[in-house]
Amino acid sequence: MDLQIKSFEDYQNTYQHSVENPEAFWAGIAENFYWRRKWNNVLDWNFKEPKIKWFEGAKLNITENCLDRHIYQHGDTPAIIWEPNDPNEAHRVLTYKQLLDKVEQFSNVLKNNGVRKGDRICIYLPMVPELVIAVLACARIGAIHSVVFGGFSAQSIADRINDADCRLVITSDGGFRGTKDIELKSIVDDALVQCKSVERVIVLTRTRTPVSMIKGRDVWWEDEIKKVETQGNPPCPAEEMDAEDMLFVLYTSGSTGKPKGVVHTCGGYMVYTGYTFTNAFQYQPGEVYFCTADIGWITGHSYIVYGPLSQGATSLMFEGIPTWPDAGRLWDIVEKHHVNILYTAPTAIRSLMAAGDSYVDGKNLSSITKLGTVGEPINEEAWHWYDQKIGHGKAPIVDTWWQTETGGFLISPIAGVTPTVPGYAMLPLPGVQPILVDENGKEITGNDVSGNLCIKFPWPGMLRTTYGDHERCRQTYFSAYENLYFTGDGCLRDENGYYRITGRVDDVLNVSGHRIGTAEVENAINMHSDVIESAVVGYPHAVKGQGIYAFVIASQHHTDEELTRLDINKTVSRIIGAIAKPDKIQFVSGLPKTRSGKIMRRILRKIAEGDTSNLGDTTTLLDPGVVDEIKEGAEKLRG
Ligand code: PRX
Repeated sequence: MDLQIKSFEDYQNTYQHSVENPEAFWAGIAENFYWRRKWNNVLDWNFKEPKIKWFEGAKLNITENCLDRHIYQHGDTPAIIWEPNDPNEAHRVLTYKQLLDKVEQFSNVLKNNGVRKGDRICIYLPMVPELVIAVLACARIGAIHSVVFGGFSAQSIADRINDADCRLVITSDGGFRGTKDIELKSIVDDALVQCKSVERVIVLTRTRTPVSMIKGRDVWWEDEIKKVETQGNPPCPAEEMDAEDMLFVLYTSGSTGKPKGVVHTCGGYMVYTGYTFTNAFQYQPGEVYFCTADIGWITGHSYIVYGPLSQGATSLMFEGIPTWPDAGRLWDIVEKHHVNILYTAPTAIRSLMAAGDSYVDGKNLSSITKLGTVGEPINEEAWHWYDQKIGHGKAPIVDTWWQTETGGFLISPIAGVTPTVPGYAMLPLPGVQPILVDENGKEITGNDVSGNLCIKFPWPGMLRTTYGDHERCRQTYFSAYENLYFTGDGCLRDENGYYRITGRVDDVLNVSGHRIGTAEVENAINMHSDVIESAVVGYPHAVKGQGIYAFVIASQHHTDEELTRLDINKTVSRIIGAIAKPDKIQFVSGLPKTRSGKIMRRILRKIAEGDTSNLGDTTTLLDPGVVDEIKEGAEKLRG
């Protein structure tokens, strides 16, 4: 069976079948993958516990699907094209055959270092091919990877390592991003002061920055590879995994202060990422597909590594940033590697658009046939610029809506098959049953309506639990509305039945497409010794989508406001990472609180947005006077 849907009628029929008979539908899709043993049961579920089991009894290894099965006919097809940060450094290409060899080699390195099936491994690497190799090597031997984005601080790494009880860390001396050389190993060293479970650190050489290698704990990647070579480079057969064995943990922010480890399992995740990748992008053999995300986020996991590779695609990964050496870098890469499919975030599009058309005019982008966006709502202006300047009006744009928890796209156009409307994720993919509910969980039916977005039936790529704390998973996603998975997003369904995601309805911010919890930022700000209390909200930001606005009550010690702001930013960078630094800090003498002590964020949000005309009812506040003071302060801050 061809996995790809070829027409809108085909989509409608497939969708119909997928909701009427989900088990038969997904079993049919799963037949397109390589299983060592087929399942006994397609699906066993309830959203109450929740219990979600797909393809129970099936045996597989996802790397056999991503690598081995392509070798015989397509061994020389490029699997990974790597474009370095510095355009003057040579790019690298790894064919499927070469990638498999390297994955087997590094799998043996992991085994030599005592890693066994089920062990958790923390990966903190820059965007180099070795990151893909490390991820796949873990999967090959059944170790559970927990990739931590290179922008996170030592404290964040330590929290993640301790939560998952990781035995081993894979990092590099440093990483290049634009003009910066980030000292990753040194950050890991700081983290490990707090981590008892880590026995071994494998360090890749990338920047040649000086590092402290601790005897008995730290080893060089290159030395370990040499050892495997002296052993004669033995193959590393893939470990047989149950469909429901854990594949990876990936930490993401929620409305509480502590990020949670979203758990994905082998079988369902493989089927779902492969199916959605090939469909949404209508991938054709030979096409070069370029996703600009970092593998530290779910987009990189699902749509740089697992989805594309399970489909035998050529996946281009980029070490650097879109604005260095200049804002034409992505277009240079498209031109150089004849990229056919480009998948990026609205925030990147907006920043490149703001840099001016001179960076794109004159670049040969004729290879582009399909475009995608992810991570946040895209505004019309950016959509049209992307469509006209990059796609020359000929490349369908798939606005893919999904989440770390969903594993893959849930609502998204299928390129060239589904109609597109700027700002709309359009229609659910087969197997996905979205519903809108009101505050009380009552379904909102019909069209031209809006509400909270929930999903009422499981799909194979959904999260199974949150690491080490199943109750938290239930609480967060399955308790708001009975028998529904709650996404945390608000959504409208227009008169044609098309879906448009309007943004989070909880206390989660989306800054440059990155998810950050307001409580997490508040906790970090409150760590600063001069801070008594803080409240963080989001506000519209022209490039980032949302900016971080912090209202801070500081003690009398601080005399220089500007310096205290810098101190607070430094604190947030240390505790979470530079990505969570507030864009604006306003010092206040009090916060608007109800008599029960709850901060009225609605009021702060309005003030941060600069919309103070209608703040609603403030009479229930403990001290209504504080609102006027905050309003004045905000105006001053805006200048
Ligand atoms: O609010 C939605 C927004 O990003 C959130 C998920 O964030 P994360 O788990 O970090 O995953 C990002 C990459 C999948 C969602 O709850 N979001 C994601 N994609 C879109 C989006 N908002 C609007 N349109 C999208 N296409």
